[in-house]
Amino acid sequence: MLVVLEDDDRSLSRDAARIVAHTVLSQPRVTLGLATGSTPIGMYRELVRLNREEKLDFSHVVTFNLDEYIGLTPGHPQSYHAYMARHFFDHVNIPPENIHIPDGSVRPSYDEYCAWYEACIREAGGIDLQVLGIGKEGHIGFNESSSSLRSRTRPKVLAIQTVKDNRRFFGPREDVPDCAITMGLGTIMDARKILLLASGAHKAKAVAAAVEGPVTASVTASVLQFHPHVTVLADRDAAAELRRTSDYRRIMEMTRKTNSGRLW
Ligand code: GLP
Repeated sequence: MLVVLEDDDRSLSRDAARIVAHTVLSQPRVTLGLATGSTPIGMYRELVRLNREEKLDFSHVVTFNLDEYIGLTPGHPQSYHAYMARHFFDHVNIPPENIHIPDGSVRPSYDEYCAWYEACIREAGGIDLQVLGIGKEGHIGFNESSSSLRSRTRPKVLAIQTVKDNRRFFGPREDVPDCAITMGLGTIMDARKILLLASGAHKAKAVAAAVEGPVTASVTASVLQFHPHVTVLADRDAAAELRRTSDYRRIMEMTRKTNSGRLW
C-alpha cells in the first residue's frame, strides 16, 4: 500500500485526477470504477478541466459506479446517477452506453440484477482502476461494518451513522434512503489497481484503522491491505492519526526518485 500524504484537499484532488488521467492516457480503453460522496468532487472537476483544456480523451473509457441508493430513481437529484451526471458525465466525452451505475429503482429480484451488474463488469474485462472514498466508520462503497470480506454486488442496509452522514444532502422533510445496492468487497478487490481518497479530520480514525489496524470486517476498508496495488491519498487532517508517517514520506521520496518524479 502506497500512502501519499497530501497538504490539503486541493493537492489531493489534483493528484487523484493525475493518476486517473495517466491511466486513461496509457490505456485509452480503460475500465474505471467510480465513487461518489463529497471527497472525489475536486478530482472530477480537475478531470473535466483536463478534458476541456488538455483534450484528455474519454471516448473509449468504460465506467462502473460503486453503488446507488435503493428507492431513488435515476432522475432523483440526490441519486448517484444525478451526482455523476452533475459532476462528471455531463461534462466529458464518455459515451453514455459505456456508463454503468446500479439502478436503485429496479423492482425485479435483486439477486438477478446484481448478478447482471457483476457480469457486465466481467464482460468489460474487469475494472482496471477503482476509485474509492471512505466512510467515517471505515466503509468503502456501502460495505458497512460486518460485510463479508468476499462479498459481491448486493443490496445492503445502511448503518445508522451512514444515514446520519448522508442527511446533509437531503431536504429537511425528505426521507434519507437506508438501503443501497453496492459492489461487494470481493468485487472491489478484483480491481487491478485501487485509489482510495480521504480528506478531512472526520476521516482520521477510519484512515488509521484501514491502513494500520488489523484486517477486520468491522472496518471494511482494512481489507485493502490484502490488495497488491493500492494507493491511498490522504490530506493532512485525514492522515492525522497515522503513526508511520515518516515511513510513508520516505517511500514517497523513493518512489518519486525512481519514477521520474511521479508517484504512479
Ligand atoms: C458514502 C458512499 C461512499 C463514500 C462515503 C464517504 O457512504 N457510498 O462511496 O466514500 O459516502 O463520503 P464523503 O466523501 O462525502 O465523506
